[in-house]
Amino acid sequence: MCRLHETETQSWRNLVMIILILKLSKGHYGAHFEALDALNSIIEFSKQEIPLSATFSDAFVRKYFPTIFASTEAPNAANCLDKVFKNYELKKHINVKCDETDGLDTCSGLTFVSHDDKAIVIAFRGTKGKLQLLVESDEIMYRNKTAWFGGGNVGYYFAHAFNLIWNDGMKADLNLLIHKYPNYEIWVGGHSLGGSMAALASNFLISTGLATSSNLKMITFGEPRTGDKDFADTHDSLVPYSYRIIHKKDIVPHIPLNGMEGFHHHRNEIWYDNEMETADFKECDAQESPFCSDSHLDFMISDHHRYYGMFMSFYGRRNCTGDPAN
Ligand SMILES: *[C@@H]1O[C@H](CO)[C@@H](O)[C@H](O)[C@H]1NC(C)=O
Ligand SMILES: *[C@@H]1O[C@H](CO)[C@@H](O)[C@H](O)[C@H]1NC(C)=O
Repeated sequence: MCRLHETETQSWRNLVMIILILKLSKGHYGAHFEALDALNSIIEFSKQEIPLSATFSDAFVRKYFPTIFASTEAPNAANCLDKVFKNYELKKHINVKCDETDGLDTCSGLTFVSHDDKAIVIAFRGTKGKLQLLVESDEIMYRNKTAWFGGGNVGYYFAHAFNLIWNDGMKADLNLLIHKYPNYEIWVGGHSLGGSMAALASNFLISTGLATSSNLKMITFGEPRTGDKDFADTHDSLVPYSYRIIHKKDIVPHIPLNGMEGFHHHRNEIWYDNEMETADFKECDAQESPFCSDSHLDFMISDHHRYYGMFMSFYGRRNCTGDPAN
């Protein structure tokens, strides 16, 4: 990798800005814009190399998280959780109307405690309708930002959805569980828009003292860019155990374009450039690395739906019955 000098960096930045403006005026995705996403990452990468303080485990994530995320989609979440958890208590599966455009689409948050793992688990799901909007028109989706607890600004949609779920009962459940099981770890996660909600939740729980940097584990699948650089920096200092997992050419982690409206990823990226059947992944510990998923120049929505061989939304909506892959 070549390192860019300050002046070169500046002129690359100007070029990126000009083409970003072109992108906004054209309003569609093209391979050349995605190439700029990768280019901008190279520039960012040369500025930050932070040492690791946690270790990613493929076996841990593979065993639990696809099923946890499928359960957030399920009318009967227990039917899903039963497949991987034995001695557990499901607290609540909260569904809130979080889409102001039609008032019908719901977001959800799930809270349970696994005694075998000594873990309190919270997981999130965003709306289906918003994912469509996100992919087709990230400008609309990302126009609004709002300040977040630990620092920085985040997408309004994610903050709003998290607040609704938190105030609809997750707060009460979690307070109770943390008092009852003070030595348990706290696992926080989500797929897609739910991944951004999970990032906000992790940051929130630690900055408000409900969890600590050493007892919280955050795992997301296909998380879009959630907030700005200040948010990412705060997140990285508060949440050392933080992994954004990306399946091959999943388009969502590339939305919105790096730098657009100041949106910037937090650490750490785990990238599977394959069908995720084995522990064959690459880890990139920068906020925006050119060496993991940004090294592809074309992206697909199909890779967004299936992680570790599971089509989480369809399988979950069937209460985790039938073929997990479809
Ligand atoms: C933008 O934020 C305002 C409140 O600050 C809200 O009323 C409005 O619905 C938001 N718009 C979008 C597109 O999210
Ligand atoms: C899932 O579970 C709910 C609640 O138990 C039930 O009403 C629904 O019919 C189930 N759906 C499927 C596809 O099994």
